[in-house]
This record gives sequence, structure tokens and C-alpha cells, in this order.
Amino acid sequence: MNNTKHYRTIRSFVKREGRITPAQKTAFETLLPIYGLPTTRLDFSDIFKNQLPVFLEIGFGMGQSLAEMAAAFPEINFIGVEVHRPGVGALLQAIHERHLSNIRISSIDAVTLLTEQIPDHSLDKIQIFFPDPWHKKRHHKRRLIQPAFIQLVYQKLKPQGILHIATDWQDYADHITAVMDQESRFKSLNDAEKLPREYTWRPTTKYEQRGERLHHVTHDFLFISKRPLFQQEFFPSDPDNNR
Ligand SMILES: C[S@@+](CC[C@H](N)C(=O)[O-])C[C@H]1O[C@@H](n2cnc3c(N)ncnc32)[C@H](O)[C@@H]1O
Repeated sequence: MNNTKHYRTIRSFVKREGRITPAQKTAFETLLPIYGLPTTRLDFSDIFKNQLPVFLEIGFGMGQSLAEMAAAFPEINFIGVEVHRPGVGALLQAIHERHLSNIRISSIDAVTLLTEQIPDHSLDKIQIFFPDPWHKKRHHKRRLIQPAFIQLVYQKLKPQGILHIATDWQDYADHITAVMDQESRFKSLNDAEKLPREYTWRPTTKYEQRGERLHHVTHDFLFISKRPLFQQEFFPSDPDNNR
């Protein structure tokens, strides 16, 4: 993808180590080799030893909500990617303590993971809960949700895969709306009840709790990726073509 090279020079995060507890550090060092993803191209049926749907969460933070989802939906395989090491350590601890077998983690930039390791049209859902808002106008280019990134998301989702984004910043919600309004390959899902619960439900996240204390309103966006044009043309009588 031509845009990817340019896109990847602008990072959507600043890597601050912050405070990593001894337990998180130990978990990072000892449990990542067990619950971490390989660094090569991924084969999900080999990794999870099943053919169940695969959901990717980008920027899981401290990981509590992802662990909760993995526990709630054992029939879904979850992949989480996060660059913040204390968060990776915390989620590894949770996976280990709760004996979760349906979740694997990567600690690299999500754009690199998507571009280099995730096969095209292999994911059933991509979820991005409370991406860094990057408030200052000169930093807006760092926002994860950009046309080139959405193109990459489309490339990695299965046809009719789901993209779920949540934000508690009105300005970022307006930005997401503007980017997705330009995207002809995704359709906004207003009537989310039609989807199975695992595609729509999410626990309250840690970052969201902070927003709630500030009386922020949370916006959840659900989009479905349209089938590639050749499939629509090939099955012209399929009533689902324009979904
Ligand atoms: C505002 S926090 C939200 C964390 C969590 N989703 C929550 O709601 O509590 C955004 C997270 O995204 C991570 N992040 C941002 N860009 C990323 C990228 N390109 N790859 C992986 N993680 C990323 C940051 O490190 C940060 O932890």
C-alpha cells in the first residue's frame, strides 16, 4: 500500500514507559513468550487451534476490558495490540490468572502488526476504544483514525467485518464522522441490535471511566465493511449486496 509508508512515519503514540510495577515487568518478560503473538505472518487457525472468529483490539491500555471480553466470549479469538509496556504486563497477568486461552498479545505498533503480520481479509472485527485524542490542531495528523489507516483496516477485515470505535471527545467524534463519511467501503450501522451481542457489547474501559468523571459523553461507532465490488457484481441478485 503506497500510503502506508508515509503513514507509518507519523506515530499515533508517544512511547512513555511510565511506572511499570515489578509484577508487570516480570509478566512482560516471562508471559509474553507464552501469550504473545509470533513476530512472523500470522496463521490464526494454527495459533488458536480452531476456526473461530478473530477480533483485534488496537490500543487496549491496561487491558481489563479486553480480558473481560475474552472471558465473556470464549467462542471468539481475541488479539490485542498495545505499545505501553505496563499495560501489556497487566493484561498478561490477567490472562494468566484467569486462565484465558482465547487471547494473544502483541506489543508493537498496530500499523506494523496490520501491515506485516495480519493476512488480508482475515479479521471478523477490529475494535478501537478511546484512541488518543491528540487535541492540538498541529497534532491531529497523529490521530489513529485517518483515511490511510481506514484503508488498511478495510484490507484486513473480512467482507462484512465490523469496525467498532469509541471516543469520549466530541472533537474526535466529529473527526471520525468526517473520515468515515468519505469512506464508500464502509456502511454505518445504526441498528446495532441486528448484530450478535459479541459484535456490539463492550465493558466500560479504564480511559472511559476517567471521561465519565469529567462528564464526557461517549460515542460508539459501528461500521460494516462492504463486499468487494467483484463479489457484488458476481452475485447481482443477492439482497445483501448493498449492506
Ligand atoms: C487513550 S488510551 C485508551 C486505552 C484503552 N483502550 C482504554 O479505553 O482504557 C489509547 C491507547 O492506545 C495505544 N496506542 C496508540 N497508538 C497505538 C498504536 N499505533 N499501536 C498500538 N497501541 C497504540 C496507546 O499506547 C494507549 O495506551
